[in-house]
Amino acid sequence: MNTQIKEIKVGWESPSNIALVKYWGKKDFQSPANPSISFTLNNAVTKTSIVAVENIEQLGISLEFYFENQLNEAFADKIKAYLEKAVGTFSWLNSYHLIIHSDNTFPHSSGIASSASAFSAIALCLCSLHEQIEIKPLSNFFQVASNWARIGSGSACRSVYGGYNLWGKTIVCENSADEYAIHLESEIHENFRHLTDTILIIEKGKKSVSSTQGHALLKNHPFAEHRYTIAADNTIELLNILKTGDMQAFIHLVEREALMLHALMMTSPTPFILIKPNTLAVIEKIWDYRNQTGCELLFTLDAGANVHLIASAKDNEQVQKFVKNELIGYCQNGLYFCNEIGMGPKKINYA
Ligand code: DP6
Repeated sequence: MNTQIKEIKVGWESPSNIALVKYWGKKDFQSPANPSISFTLNNAVTKTSIVAVENIEQLGISLEFYFENQLNEAFADKIKAYLEKAVGTFSWLNSYHLIIHSDNTFPHSSGIASSASAFSAIALCLCSLHEQIEIKPLSNFFQVASNWARIGSGSACRSVYGGYNLWGKTIVCENSADEYAIHLESEIHENFRHLTDTILIIEKGKKSVSSTQGHALLKNHPFAEHRYTIAADNTIELLNILKTGDMQAFIHLVEREALMLHALMMTSPTPFILIKPNTLAVIEKIWDYRNQTGCELLFTLDAGANVHLIASAKDNEQVQKFVKNELIGYCQNGLYFCNEIGMGPKKINYA
């Protein structure tokens, strides 16, 4: 009898992304009510490794989860519930014990969304394990990974590729889908290929209302249907802007999307407000600076108080001066993170 225990180790580093057209509202389980477009960041990364140890006597999912080298039961429970959904596709999950290690390159509780990087990294690891355990390559590796990242957290499906990505069905893009994101390859004008995203940390710590709770509040929202129509139109418009290189149109669309996201929160059946006075102060400063200097910088927001200051990489020196001279005072402990459009996830090789 062969008593050798099979043990396989895989790892991926996967980044967060920032949405330009926002996903806000679900049709049903993890299916977006409207399409969304994002770009991938280069510096906000989760690094995850999984050691899978074969155990044929195992009953159901078994795992241990270490976050920043500390055993984390709360995360383990969340990941267990997620893997229970994945067992239909990855049936070997029932006969392998998983030892998962996860670290972020950005401080936990910095207010930067980590579910996108975390779930994309895990989904990529599952796909890599699948290939090694089944000894067969997946024919559409990143599509499967994107789908499983989505099941963990919707926005995570846009993190399995670098550059600009589209998630959700739109009539102008034949291969778009609600189940997974697609990478927008050739359609990006030079003006948008090298953007920077300076994330200004207005408030660290856990948000009062999670994104998942926020999505649910769209169910009985008086503006929901109208919002979904606008978002679908904005997706088509942004795809066109990204092709033609119209920076002014880009600025106005992306800022409107950010403000509409927060307006939806404030007008929910149970209203909530995630922006802070300093969020608004920074927005005012950005508008003033743009008006006075003509520098084409803009902001977007995710589901929190922090401001993403986006600009062309060619203006980076000027933008960083503006941040240091005029914005840093609005950031909690003067904290901000510099990002650019990233190349996407990287596989970790354990030779
Ligand atoms: C405002 O992807 O975090 O960042 O699918 O419930 O995990 P779940 O939600 P999540 O929502 C992200 C909302 C957003 C906009 C976006 O990234 O498109």
